[in-house]
Formats: sequence, C-alpha cells, structure tokens
Amino acid sequence: MENPVALISGGASGLGAASARAIVSSGGRVVLLDRDPARGEALAAELGEAARFAETDVTDEGSVQTARDWGLSVFGRIDVAVNCAGIAIASKTVGKDGAHPLADFQRSIDINLVGSFNVARLAAEAMQDNAPDADGQRGVIIHTASVAAYEGQKGQPAYAASKGGVVGMTLPMARDLAPQGIRVMSIAPGLFMTPMLAGLPDAAQEALAAQPLFPKRLGHPEEFGAMVNTIIASPYLNGSVIRLDGGIRLP
Ligand SMILES: NC(=O)c1ccc[n+]([C@@H]2O[C@H](COP(=O)([O-])OP(=O)(O)OC[C@H]3O[C@@H](n4cnc5c(N)ncnc54)[C@H](O)[C@@H]3O)[C@@H](O)[C@H]2O)c1
Repeated sequence: MENPVALISGGASGLGAASARAIVSSGGRVVLLDRDPARGEALAAELGEAARFAETDVTDEGSVQTARDWGLSVFGRIDVAVNCAGIAIASKTVGKDGAHPLADFQRSIDINLVGSFNVARLAAEAMQDNAPDADGQRGVIIHTASVAAYEGQKGQPAYAASKGGVVGMTLPMARDLAPQGIRVMSIAPGLFMTPMLAGLPDAAQEALAAQPLFPKRLGHPEEFGAMVNTIIASPYLNGSVIRLDGGIRLP
C-alpha cells in the first residue's frame, strides 16, 4: 500500500498525531478527525498539503460520515483508518463518593468502543470501492486497545471494558471484511508519554516509567507511529492484537 490516504480519529493529539506524522513522513496523506479544533488545525497546518482537519465527534454517525465524505472529496479515496480517539476515566466500582457514575461508564464505552466501530464501519464502506492491489487488498483498519484490556487496574472498570471490547471486535471485523480485502488489526499500547499521561503528577509518571521490563521508560509516541506504518506495510498482519509495551504486565 503506497502513499495511503488515512482517516485518523483522535488525530489532533498524542498517539493519533504521531500516527499522522508517521504516515505523512512515509508519503501518505491524512484526514485528522478530532473534537479539538485548535490542536487539529495546528497539526494540519504543520503537516501542510498532505493533511486536513475535520472537527468530528466519533460517537456521532452524521459527524463521522460528513468527515469521511469530505476526506474522500479532498483526497479521492480512503485506504487506512487509525482509531486513536479515546478517553481514560478513572473511577472505582464503589468509591468514597458512592457507586461509579453510570454515565461515566457509558461515556467510556461510547467514545472508546462505539466510536472506534463507527469510524471503522464508515471507513470500510468507502474502502470497498478501492481498486484492489495484487493481493486483492483494498484497505487497513487499525484500532487502539490498551494493555488494560488484559490487566486493568483498580479504578479502570470502564476503561478496561471499553478496550476489552476493542480487542474482542478485532477478529470478527477482520472476518467480516476479508471478502472485501480489508485487514483489521489492533495495537495494545502500554504506557506512552502523551497528554493523557502528561497530566499525572511527576511522581506518578516516574512510577509508571519504572514498570516496563525493558526499556525502563514510557513509550515514545513515534514508536506507536512506526508500528502503524509497519501494520500498513505488512499484508500478512490481520485479525490480531499487537502489544506495544516494553514487556509491561500491570500489577
Ligand atoms: N497514552 C497511553 O499511555 C495509552 C496507553 C494505552 C492506550 N492508549 C489509547 O490510545 C488512544 C490515544 O490516546 P492518547 O494517549 O494519544 O490520548 P490523547 O488524550 O492525547 O488523545 C486523544 C484524542 O482523542 C480525542 N477525542 C476524545 N474524544 C473524542 C470524540 N468523541 N470524538 C473525536 N475525538 C475525540 C481528543 O480530543 C484527543 O485529541 C486512546 O484510545 C487511549 O485510550 C493510550
């Protein structure tokens, strides 16, 4: 897949922004789908002609459809979708203030899981019209899960459930889309230095950075971007989840 056109949800920040930079630096073009117009417009301006920003709420059908159609009209096709839009809500099942707010649980599922499915289904609908390559390949969808899907910690029932859902839908979605020549993969990151983690106190960040087996540091977003490029370039990767975590197993 050469010079692909990618829809990147959550593309204004963190791992999504790193994916956009990686795809553009290897000759691709990107449409950044994010609800943060300030960061999204700034990154699109930095990346130049190869990038556009579309203010988008991944949980909203019409919003994603409009962004997809606009991306199609600008770049002519969509080859890749990278799902990075997400939120991390920390709340115990029963905490000091009582039961976990149900609305917070539902919002986590809605953005992290339903939002990923929404972008994937609409991107795949467009990809099926692409001319196939020699393998019959027409597109690639890359979801972002988390190691919390496997080793969720205290205060993470909502986040871990949403990411477990992402892991769970990876294989059936790959099976659904195989006839169209569309691959589906997920990356399960460990701990990466993005705005999501940068908000934690220094002591918490140091404690987290000591957790991986090796290297003993937080992941660099560029390492996530490199994995996205590897998945795009590797036709035999399909239907599975890659842990990108320095060997971390959260206690
Ligand atoms: N940073 C980590 O250590 C880490 C680890 C494991 C998994 N992840 C996952 O990676 C993904 C990216 O995380 P990040 O660290 O880059 O976070 P981030 O906060 O830097 O970026 C997330 C982006 O998603 C956007 N977003 C949130 N809700 C949205 C919505 N409804 N519609 C459109 N955009 C929306 C935000 O505006 C933001 O730009 C998330 O799914 C996160 O759960 C991150």
